[in-house]
Amino acid sequence: MKKLIIRGNRDLSGEIHIGGAKNSVVALIPASCLTKGKCVIHNVPDISDVGILIKMMEYLGSKITYENEVLTIDNKNLKVKPIPTEYSSCLRASYYFMGSLGGLFHHAEISYPGGCTIGARPIDIHINSFKKQGFKVTEKDGTYTLDTHKLKGQDIFFDFPSVGATINVMLTATLAEGTTRIINAAREPEIQNVAEFLNNMGADIQGAGTAEIIIHGVKELHGAEVTVIPDRIEGGTYLIIGALLGKNLKISGINRDHLFSLISKLKDAGVSMKINKDSIIVNKSKNLKAVNVKTSVYPGFPTDLGQPMSAFLTQCKGESLFEETIYENRLRHIPYLTTMGANIKSWDKKAVIIGNTQLKGRKVKATDLRAGASLLVAGMIANGITEVDNIEHLLRGYENLVHKLNTVGADIKLIDE
Ligand code: UD1
Repeated sequence: MKKLIIRGNRDLSGEIHIGGAKNSVVALIPASCLTKGKCVIHNVPDISDVGILIKMMEYLGSKITYENEVLTIDNKNLKVKPIPTEYSSCLRASYYFMGSLGGLFHHAEISYPGGCTIGARPIDIHINSFKKQGFKVTEKDGTYTLDTHKLKGQDIFFDFPSVGATINVMLTATLAEGTTRIINAAREPEIQNVAEFLNNMGADIQGAGTAEIIIHGVKELHGAEVTVIPDRIEGGTYLIIGALLGKNLKISGINRDHLFSLISKLKDAGVSMKINKDSIIVNKSKNLKAVNVKTSVYPGFPTDLGQPMSAFLTQCKGESLFEETIYENRLRHIPYLTTMGANIKSWDKKAVIIGNTQLKGRKVKATDLRAGASLLVAGMIANGITEVDNIEHLLRGYENLVHKLNTVGADIKLIDE
């Protein structure tokens, strides 16, 4: 069991450089299975999800090297094999092997994907789309099997713009016969990054990043290179921390446009920032004002930043209404913030956060990845020592977290018991 011991209330100055996006790389690595050629992925973050995906790729026969943030994938000996629970349960993104192995081999077998327990997280949109494309999909004892003789382009409408289903349909559609249109597609920047990689591999995808994506199927893909976009959630988390503790703290290696919703809310709260295209200098701001925050799909406020943002709102004067709209269980960190002294009333997927309150160091537990990020923010602004248990989740998404924060003046220890 890993835990963080945080001594709070320390000024932060210097520079934090943001790594490649977790939610991009976890799709890019499985996407490489659409070719037996050699792929090179740059700016790959050193996070535990990448380590698990490397093991999964090696299990499938790939030869991988990972050095200085460059991942080289040689799929010459790639084979389609059943992916067991011990791998698939480690991360949500394991469902991308359905799309890529299914696309290349017309067969995939994988146990139900894992990931944070933040709600029911069904994969019905993925499965219904696979069926429309021509797969026979069977489910037995938590294992999905996809089979087809031929994949055919289709018009596919999503009831909800699911990130995972958008990427999965793009993966299978690249090698399908004819044209696929995804209508009401998700527009997250990570989807554009995956489309860029697939196009570099020889696919013909237009409109990624908009609500309508058109994919003209091609006969085969070849090896290619791609660079992972900056992690907007990592960048956003450090921006929030900088708004509370920064003394000219520079967050570099970001894409400012991907953080528009957060920047806008921080400005409304009175945070002082100098914003450049790929970096932001942020200062601890006095007299922060309450702001309402409602999560939604991109370009709305990201659900993955909702939890760290709720810790920020405890420092804003007045009543902030915080509302989660994507997942059922994304408020499980709230009781821990309350234990630390926050004044919060929560019901369903809403919370009224009344600030500002001085938080106190306590023993708390990260129930999921971004809950961990919220408690990290809370611990860093609290008086005294905060102990955050169960931070394996947190390490799944934040590269070199302790080192990055301690380098700019934080006092955090990682204990492995
Ligand atoms: C991805 C991100 C996750 C982020 C989320 C929303 C990855 C690996 N994870 O997750 O960090 O929080 O986008 O931005 O990229 N849904 C269904 N049926 C489906 C698929 C989704 O009902 O078939 C529902 C989910 O239960 C959830 C909502 O749609 O309530 C969002 O899901 P989706 O956009 O698919 O998110 P993920 O791809 O799982």
